[in-house]
Amino acid sequence: RLSRLVLGIETSCDDTGAAVVDESGQILGESLHSQTEVHLRTGGVIPPVAQQLHRENIKRVVQEALDMSNVHPSQLSAVATTVKPGLSLSLGIGVEFSQRFVRQHNKPFIPIHHMEAHALTVRMLHPVAFPFLVLLVSGGHSLLALARGVDDFLLLGQSLDVAPGDALDKVARRLSLKNHPLCSKLSGGQAIELLAKDGDRTRFPLTTPMGKTKDCSFSFSGIRNQVTMMIQKEEAEEGVEEGTLLSCVNDIAATTQHTVAAHLAKRTHRAILFCKANNLLPSSNPTLVVSGGVASNQYIRKVLNIIAEKEGVSMLCPPAKFCTDNGVMIAWNGVERLREGKGILPPSVDVPYEPK
Ligand code: KG4
Ligand code: ZN
Repeated sequence: RLSRLVLGIETSCDDTGAAVVDESGQILGESLHSQTEVHLRTGGVIPPVAQQLHRENIKRVVQEALDMSNVHPSQLSAVATTVKPGLSLSLGIGVEFSQRFVRQHNKPFIPIHHMEAHALTVRMLHPVAFPFLVLLVSGGHSLLALARGVDDFLLLGQSLDVAPGDALDKVARRLSLKNHPLCSKLSGGQAIELLAKDGDRTRFPLTTPMGKTKDCSFSFSGIRNQVTMMIQKEEAEEGVEEGTLLSCVNDIAATTQHTVAAHLAKRTHRAILFCKANNLLPSSNPTLVVSGGVASNQYIRKVLNIIAEKEGVSMLCPPAKFCTDNGVMIAWNGVERLREGKGILPPSVDVPYEPK
């Protein structure tokens, strides 16, 4: 085989992922064990539970990715694993497994930054050159960064409190959308997107956060609080029990989604203007990459695209499967690092994992 092969391993939060990717970005094998269903029952990720599930699944997940790719560990060029940021207990399982694996098979080890991996996944699918702007929005992250190179990122802004997906999940939970006939199998964000389609976003107007803050940081806890108060008021007026509103859930979903979209678009617009003013983006075909679970929201994409088009920036969103946590993005980041000879360690080096 001419092309170099990287095994990628991801355990930073609640997904155990592994994949074998070659230098051209071909996925030879992949496996993902999602813990979402377990965590949905408890209303959030409980770290020791996540750790135990990673522990139970990691060996099988890695073996599945290798088997599917028909690659023997001896044929690998390196093993790449998320070492930060994430839940310490979760990270530990992946890192400890990987370090045993590279020692056993005498392979180089490539420590991976989870957010950098999210940001670069797009390059596995499209020929996007550095530098480009990236907006990452999920249940755990919200950030704007300028990707200048494989290991060179300029952080332009991040959330000062919770991530947008977290705010959407909390609103969905407060509305008990799990009991809604159309939403029982959907994540909070998906449920809100679906209900918002038949909602009137002007019925309960909200203010977009941070209207006076002249930077690119985000805040979503205010939206969540405003919506919670709105729900309480409606419940009181209709005289119904908590979490049993029926008549106006579509309108509440629509205003929540719109306000999240408007906030993301305003901050992204600021970032584009900042990059332009400082000549940080190429003048020909500047690109905005939008990724993370929340990026699969079609309404949010549409609103972001209006801003991008207005500023002559092309917007790219990887398919949903590559927006969320997986082993493929970690393997691909390993490939990118291997190609440039950056951050490759011998198997004997002890690598710490860092939650932050
Ligand atoms: O990237 P992801 O799978 O996991 C991490 O948080 O790392 O993102 C999950 C988040 C959840 O908060 C979920 O509610 C949100 O993404 N999400 C959506 C949609 N699909 C998933 N939010 C808005 N619209 C969607 N269609
Ligand atoms: Zn992630």
